Amino acid sequence: MHHFHYENDELFCENVSLAALAEEAGTPAYVYSKATLTRHFKAFDGAFEGLPHLTCFSVKANSNLAVLRLFASLGGGVDIVSGGELYRALKAGVPAERIVFSGVGKTREEMRAALEAGILMFNVESAQELEALNTVAGEMGRKAPISLRINPDVDPKTHPYISTGLKKNKFGISFETAMDVYRHAAELPNLEVIGVDCHIGSQLTEVSPFVAAVDRLKKLLESLKAGGFKIKYLDVGGGLGITYQTEEPPEPDEYAKALRDALNGIGLTLILEPGRVIVGNAGILLARVTYTKSGEEKDFVITDGGMNDLMRPCLYGSYHGVQPVRKTGRPGARVDIVGPICESSDFLAKDRDLPGFVAGDLLAVMSAGAYGFTMSSNYNTRRRAVEILVDGDGYEIVRERETYEDLIRGEHIPASLK
Ligand code: LLP
Repeated sequence: MHHFHYENDELFCENVSLAALAEEAGTPAYVYSKATLTRHFKAFDGAFEGLPHLTCFSVKANSNLAVLRLFASLGGGVDIVSGGELYRALKAGVPAERIVFSGVGKTREEMRAALEAGILMFNVESAQELEALNTVAGEMGRKAPISLRINPDVDPKTHPYISTGLKKNKFGISFETAMDVYRHAAELPNLEVIGVDCHIGSQLTEVSPFVAAVDRLKKLLESLKAGGFKIKYLDVGGGLGITYQTEEPPEPDEYAKALRDALNGIGLTLILEPGRVIVGNAGILLARVTYTKSGEEKDFVITDGGMNDLMRPCLYGSYHGVQPVRKTGRPGARVDIVGPICESSDFLAKDRDLPGFVAGDLLAVMSAGAYGFTMSSNYNTRRRAVEILVDGDGYEIVRERETYEDLIRGEHIPASLK
């Protein structure tokens, strides 16, 4: 359920007219609904009520400070994968003890910053990373709290670019070698082994792969217990999917019930790293039609939003719904919605039967709240879009549209060329 809806044939976000918003803030614009963000966070987090747990929102899905602050205010933590995300999370006011740090390539500098901040734990992904973290912690006179990210080798049945828990993926430590790596970790003086972690992929539309992964981890937990390890946390990653088109992913309640059943009173604090399921359908990309054009084989609607604003269609062939901001009753047409970028992969939607758009019309690219702005770029020297948070009758710009000065900041013409 989200709060984008029509009133008298006009698309609104909560009580704010998107047409009015576009007039005031310009396009392209990312528009997020605070009520939807709140509702989704609570529905997810609430599904685990009664079970010791921490919902660590995955910052890569949507890293705006306002969004992070909102979830922190609702009791959430965050899952980060870089020093930049750590910096953001702390700036947004997320308490360090609610931050987990994942990722295969943490640098020593990033480790130092996270230890300095006092994060909850590092999800370590390789034996070499373990050594590096032990060294950095030793230099700082600290003990680094760690879990190992285990690759459980289960098929998440999702897009190959976003499945992470298969043997052929670069992520985690293999199930077979996990015990050895745990034993090694226990011998390193500056590490404290406190958890087991996995993340098998994104946009999962069934619960069975999650359950299969947890079943494998339970076996490892038994061995760890027998080996005298004091494990406190089980981090099951993120990955719950959303409806972009016709997918029917499990509701958070169903997902939580499956995990509860699989864990069966295991007595650990559960860490969850949802991203998409919380923010995906809470945001849209608002764009304006610049031109329309009839090609020999296809008709195009050219908008001021492009692949640099929303990469998912060009990168994964992802489907995003497209809706007119004003329903006009004009006859429909089969069109490609494309951007202004000099690449044929610059499309937001392909072969869609949509109401006839004309230049100047506004359209909403739906389900763009996750991996939308965060994956956007300055390709073609385009300014990244404004981000807006709607709250009831009002809204706030939570990230200004970039300026041309922003785009050349830090660049220099060498003296020899002056
Ligand atoms: N935890 C870890 C360690 C992750 O790598 C990810 C996502 C998550 C949690 C959150 O997963 P979610 O709940 O959002 O599925 N750019 C792609 C998605 C990449 C996901 C990467 N990892 C897309 O636009 O579909």
